[in-house]
Order: sequence, then C-alpha cells, then structure tokens
Amino acid sequence: MDNVSAGIRRIAITTGGGDAPGLNAVIRAAVLSACRRGWQVIGIKRGYTGLFDHTQTTMLTRASVRGITHLGGTVIGTSSKGSPFTRYEKTSDGETRTIDLTPQALEGWRELGADALIAIGGDGSLQLAHHLHLNGVPVVGVPKTIDNDLDGTVVTFGFDTAVTVATEAIDRLHSTAEAHDRIFTVEVMGRYAGWIALHAGLAGTADVILIPEIPYELDSIVRKIKERENQGSRFAIVVVAEGAKPRGGDLAVVEHARAGGNDRLGGAAERLAVDLAAATGKETRSLVLGHIQRGGMPTARDRILSQRFGAAAVRAIADGEFGTMVALDPPDVRTVPLTDAIARMKTVPLDGDTVRSIRDMGICLGD
Ligand code: F6P
Repeated sequence: MDNVSAGIRRIAITTGGGDAPGLNAVIRAAVLSACRRGWQVIGIKRGYTGLFDHTQTTMLTRASVRGITHLGGTVIGTSSKGSPFTRYEKTSDGETRTIDLTPQALEGWRELGADALIAIGGDGSLQLAHHLHLNGVPVVGVPKTIDNDLDGTVVTFGFDTAVTVATEAIDRLHSTAEAHDRIFTVEVMGRYAGWIALHAGLAGTADVILIPEIPYELDSIVRKIKERENQGSRFAIVVVAEGAKPRGGDLAVVEHARAGGNDRLGGAAERLAVDLAAATGKETRSLVLGHIQRGGMPTARDRILSQRFGAAAVRAIADGEFGTMVALDPPDVRTVPLTDAIARMKTVPLDGDTVRSIRDMGICLGD
C-alpha cells in the first residue's frame, strides 16, 4: 500500500443534482472497493445536506449496498435546489443579502472525519465539488447526467438508459402515428444539449430531430413532412429536445430559475405541434417523455460504466489524485482535472459523423 493510501481511513460519498440511472451502481462499486482496502464509507445524504446536518449521513457497508446495482434513484438521496453553500435572505429594506455557508460546510466536513470525498454529479454538483476542493476537501468526481453534457469524458452514466427509454417510446409511437396518419412531436430531456434527442431520434428512426445546437425553421420541417406525404407516408415522428428553439425564437421555459438554480424547460414539443398543425393541416399530437427517462433500472451498459467509475474513483483516492474526475476515454477509465469537466458544456458537434450521417440519410434537423 502506498503512502497516500495508507493515510486513508474513511471516505464519504455524495450524489447531487437530478438523479440518473446508475447512481446506486456507482455507490456499490465504490463501497465494495473501499471496504476491500479496509476503509469506512459515509454516505452524505440528499446532496450536501449531510454536511450541515449530521442526522443526514449514514454508514455505507457491504451489507447496506447489497442488491442495489440494478435500482434507479439513489439510496442516499439527492438534491437539485441550487448551491447549499449560499443562502439568499431578504433584508427589511427589500434587498437580497447573500450569505456564504462555506465555513459551516467545511466545519461539517471536518466533523465527519473523512479523508476524501467522492462527489457523483453533473455540471452543477461538480462545480460545488470543485468549490469544496478549492477549500481543502480532497475530492474525486464521478460524471453523472442523462444529458451527457459534461466535458472531459466521452460519455456520462445515465445517458444510455435515457436514450434507451426514449427510443422505446418513439418505437411505440410509430405504430399509432401510422395508424392515424398523425404527426407526433416527442419532447425529450437534455437541457441545453441535444445528445438524447440526436441518439434516440436516430435509434428510433425519427423523420425530424430538433436539437438546441441547430435552431429550427418551421418551413424546413413542413417541407420534410410534405416530401414524406408525396412518397406515401402520411405520418411523421418529430423528436424535439426540450432545449430546441425556432431560429430567432426563445427557449420554451416552464419556470424561470430562482437564484442559483436552472430554468425548468418544457413545452417545446407542444409549441411545435400547434405550429405544425396550422402549417400542414394535419392532426398533430405532442408528448413529453419527462422523468421516465431518468427513473428505473439502468441499462447493462450504464451498470457497467457506473461500476467502472465507482471502482476507479476509489483507485484515484488511493493514488492521491484529488481535484480530478474519473472519465471514460475508451478503452479505459482515467482521471481528468475536475476543471476540464466544468469549464464548458459539451454540446453536439455539428461536424461530427453522427450529425453528418443523419443528414446523409435525409433526416431533417430543422435547418
Ligand atoms: O439534467 C438532467 C435533467 O433531467 C434535464 O434533462 C432536465 O432539464 C432537468 O434535469 C429536469 O430537472 P428537474 O427534475 O429538477 O425538473
């Protein structure tokens, strides 16, 4: 055992942001790997809540992680309510005061007696993990999000499951769309990146795929639908990323962000359905797949990736590689600086072969 590894007695794990299928698989893999090294593992519950309130922590043992690999959600809970290290308070004169809770978080961290933290999260949660790291907490990140928009890794866990669920839904819509000669607009998640729409649209053989990276023109979609009609196909499947917007238009937002949070996106498919019905005269229905893309069992691919990430995070701690994130760099999982992951959002490259192949096959991307 090397010097760094010899100094580790206890580690902590947290899961932050929106849940993603595979969280429990990461937790179990990390706990088993840590236990084999003789380390204890504490679960910090509900994001970073357990740092402030130690009733929100739990010891994770071989027994407590038994049989969880295939389960959705996270056994230690999560939180996606913005930064727990900042509180906003209204003063009596109506101003908003910002209170930095970092000192309390660090005090809570010291009281836990842990030597390192595995932070499993997407961009927001890894920003918070980086903040803790800059304040002296030895952190290793694990890239989680169904959106696949984290840089530094080829893919995040959770993405494959979301694409699989969305693809199955699109497959099911095909037969009913065809039976009724209808257009269906299907809204998938992904926030400001089009990965889920692109991959599920391709796998589900959609006729039109709209992603945030390519603002769409209604006329172009209408042309594609008319072209299909002329070829004898009187129905159409349009996959719409929740962050897709018309050229020169706005994002479809259900609720604007409160301090420190994100806008809640939604309504892009319904907005387009109304426009398409008016422009084509065809019966058009919209569907929002929503959180079923995030819930339930991870696919085998996600279970494997999650376990590789969980075990690799423990190896990174043993090697003293703090301030890093484990990342898939085929054929291996390796570590990259946390800053690589959070510096910018990974969006769909428009000159990549997937987009080019989609164009080659005549699928409409809205431009
Ligand atoms: O980031 C994951 C994600 O599922 C996005 O695709 C989606 O926009 C968002 O989270 C939804 O968040 P919430 O569950 O907080 O509504």
